[in-house]
Amino acid sequence: MKSILVIDDNRLIRQTFKTHLTSEGFDVSVAVDGGEGVEKFQQGEPDLVILDIHLPVMDGLDVLKRIREIDDKAYVIMITAFDDMKTTIQAMKLGAFDYICKPIDYDELLLSIRKAHRMREMDTKLDYLVTEASQGFSIDNIVGRTPGMREVFKTIGMLSRSTTTVLIGGESGTGKELVARAIHYNSVNREEPFVPVNCTALAEGLLESELFGHVRGAFTGAVRDSRGKFEIAQKGTLFLDEIGDISPSLQSKLLRVVENREFSRVGGERIQRTEARIVAATNRDLEESVRKGLFREDLYYRLKVVEIKLPALRERREDIPDLVAYLLQKINRQLHTNVGKVPDSVMTMLVNSTWKGNVRELENALTRAVTLAHGDVLLPEHLPLLRSEAAGTDLVTEELTTLKEMEHRYIDHVLKQTGWNKSRTSEVLGITRPTLDKKIKDYGLLDPRKQRDMHEKESVTRD
Ligand SMILES: Nc1ncnc2c1ncn2[C@@H]1O[C@H](COP(=O)(O)OP(=O)(O)OP(=O)(O)O)[C@@H](O)[C@H]1O
Ligand SMILES: [Mg+2]
Repeated sequence: MKSILVIDDNRLIRQTFKTHLTSEGFDVSVAVDGGEGVEKFQQGEPDLVILDIHLPVMDGLDVLKRIREIDDKAYVIMITAFDDMKTTIQAMKLGAFDYICKPIDYDELLLSIRKAHRMREMDTKLDYLVTEASQGFSIDNIVGRTPGMREVFKTIGMLSRSTTTVLIGGESGTGKELVARAIHYNSVNREEPFVPVNCTALAEGLLESELFGHVRGAFTGAVRDSRGKFEIAQKGTLFLDEIGDISPSLQSKLLRVVENREFSRVGGERIQRTEARIVAATNRDLEESVRKGLFREDLYYRLKVVEIKLPALRERREDIPDLVAYLLQKINRQLHTNVGKVPDSVMTMLVNSTWKGNVRELENALTRAVTLAHGDVLLPEHLPLLRSEAAGTDLVTEELTTLKEMEHRYIDHVLKQTGWNKSRTSEVLGITRPTLDKKIKDYGLLDPRKQRDMHEKESVTRD
């Protein structure tokens, strides 16, 4: 904090301030009235303003208002008189940082300036923390260029100015929580809390008290009043993850909050209001749950005021190369590694894999491969799940052959991959067990474990 603007109509006071503060190392400018003060503030944006509460023409309070309009973080110390507490209080309400009374005690003034300096530093730090947190969850960190994902970005943008309830659907690992955070950190209320609640992690009663809080004595163990997540979220976002799993009775209670924004603590009488935005997520087909009578229809419609459906990774394979690049960077940062090269053949495998666990599975596979890598290249042998699929493709790229021969080799291949687990093999091949057994016999395929046993028996009888 270096630059200070003094706004006072009294020449003597201006002079003394200037001398004192300059000798303390500050860079001091002065203004004789409110108009000039506001103008100088706007031009120079000093770190701190010292402002006389009584000024001719534009009153000190009006000047304060104008300054705070220009910069709502401006630090202003008011100069007042003892008999003027009412106006002083008014000034503090308008956002003045501090006030000092005439006659001026310069030690007191310096103390106040130092305090302002510390506060400003903290403010900047907080700002930084907020920006850092929001950068972590900004739209930039959601990778995707395919139409499905572009639609998602558009919706996140659209939601930034409202507090509408949102329902996010999508298979496991498609990025539901990531999107929920992006909605929050892109919204006007990003500086308020983002509060996630996993609805499956807690038993029904506990979940209710977790959400709404409880009063002392509401149940055994409730030794003191406790705030719930709705209260903690304030004007921020309450993220209800796995909403499809909540019980019917909790569904009704939630409906009341979503409809009327009202709730009470468990065991409490007082009705409280919430201003938090509700973002719910589920990997279930809620419409189906509604049809089956497992989920309240009215709640379903209240939640999906805006609905975001995240596409499965296999429905947006074109995004996989970008995702691989992004995730490798992320993983390298976390593990202090430098695995950045992905051979074309490996990328092709990654793009063509099924990814039942979506982005999360891709991230896990890459993390494993990075951990096992020796140099800076991502190697196919470190992606074990993909290797088998690649071997499958090798079968196809060999010389041209009959369908029967192909079937023979492919069944042999799948049997080896499953360790001769026949149920799993028939599942993968999409045929029944008896059909598989018949084909094994027809093609004369042999279980290596049985072969080994046979050899062992033979050698025993020979010995
Ligand atoms: N589009 C994306 N871009 C970058 N990273 C992503 C993307 N989608 C998901 N991820 C990453 O994948 C992981 C899983 O995402 P997230 O936890 O949001 O999924 P989810 O849908 O909530 O999964 P679940 O249903 O299992 O809870 C996270 O590490 C997330 O950062
Ligand atoms: Mg999740």
